[in-house]
Amino acid sequence: MAQQDEPATPVGEETHDVEQVITPWAVQADSETGVDYEKLQRDWGAKAITPELLARFERVTGHRPHPMLRRGLYFSHRDLDRVLDCYERGEKFFLYTGRGPSSDALHIGHMIPFMFTQWLQEVFAAPLVVQLTDDEKFLWKDLTLPEADKLARENAKDIVAFGFDVTRTFMFQNTRYMGEMYRNVLEIQKRVTYSTATATFGFDGQSNIGKVAFPAIQAAPSFASSFPRVLGVPRMRCLIPCAIDQDPYFRVTRQVAPRMPTPLGVPKKEAKKQPGEYKPALLHCKFITSLQGPGGKMSASIPNSAVFVTDTPKQIKAKVMRAFSGGQEKVEDQRRLGADIEKDVAIQYLRFFLDDDEELASIETRYAKGELLSGEVKQRLAEVITPIVQAFQRRRANVTDEMVEAFMSVRQLDM
Ligand code: TYM
Repeated sequence: MAQQDEPATPVGEETHDVEQVITPWAVQADSETGVDYEKLQRDWGAKAITPELLARFERVTGHRPHPMLRRGLYFSHRDLDRVLDCYERGEKFFLYTGRGPSSDALHIGHMIPFMFTQWLQEVFAAPLVVQLTDDEKFLWKDLTLPEADKLARENAKDIVAFGFDVTRTFMFQNTRYMGEMYRNVLEIQKRVTYSTATATFGFDGQSNIGKVAFPAIQAAPSFASSFPRVLGVPRMRCLIPCAIDQDPYFRVTRQVAPRMPTPLGVPKKEAKKQPGEYKPALLHCKFITSLQGPGGKMSASIPNSAVFVTDTPKQIKAKVMRAFSGGQEKVEDQRRLGADIEKDVAIQYLRFFLDDDEELASIETRYAKGELLSGEVKQRLAEVITPIVQAFQRRRANVTDEMVEAFMSVRQLDM
């Protein structure tokens, strides 16, 4: 039974007219205008992150919202206001995010939710669970289980390098942790019909049955009861930061949550007031587009579509200089007509990675007017992201197997 705020819009169905198809596995959008985020938010029943909500965030947390929030890169949410209510009352909540290990190295698009989640963990001093979906990648990609396992281990090191607080962070790989959360996976599977799964995810008769059952496995960590030895409480609210492509999983989760069994240990009065599990809250970000321009998500399997966290300064510069430009081809035309900054890849990237609001505004204005040339903006982008990637590489080089084990060991987290 769909709740009003979670219309079970088939992924891609409503959006076929503009050739926009967004699933957790593929992003296809108009190559001229890119992803229509407003339409997605409307069709999928999420709410806009408004200036009022950001002002409340600042009042409640005492922290200025992250640049990605202030700039509308995190643009939509579900129930962030409820999470803030809960924090204001002094109640705990936990964060949940994840990675599907499909390649040796992350691209800089994958960095976004992890950088942002690390900031959220600091702001709220919240416990965090990080899911590595090696099972998902095994089912969807041409990978053996040992290969998916190896990629998960490599990606785990990448994630540790973002600087999460080990006393508050639990990272787990599905194929190894499943026993602890399998009961919740089953409870979810029993409550999602085949027709909901096919309508939401676009499965068809050719989809292997592992795929059809998988959404319950990404849903389960939204409930604290999937972590009895890690979170140690029967029920706690959850906030999930991710790019909008992951939303279909959590729409289904939110539909199921109130119909789940109330976890054992929830006081009777509370259980009566609100039976079942809490719906997870979400914060959605836009995609960093591929270097080739609007309309696509970067792909870890197409090297030139993205800057990777393993790239050298030379590779970064070469990729950035070849990126799709919203500027005019000829210098005199650029001086006269200026650039279309909404299509310009370098500007999109600077919005994610340049901290200084004033400099960003000045680059945007001068470039749009033709005072700056495309090459100058790209040069600045290379200067901005190279030290970010290099700092990441230094931290990554210091991550040991023991550190990964510490993050992945099943133990009670600090609250
Ligand atoms: P994965 O590995 O495809 O992506 C990891 C995270 O990165 C986000 N992302 C991007 N963000 C901005 N720009 C991009 N170009 C870009 N590409 C990817 C994704 O939205 C995701 O947040 N099934 C998931 C793993 C997962 C998960 C979760 C993610 C399991 N549980 C809970 C988020 C929240 C996956 O394959 O993500």
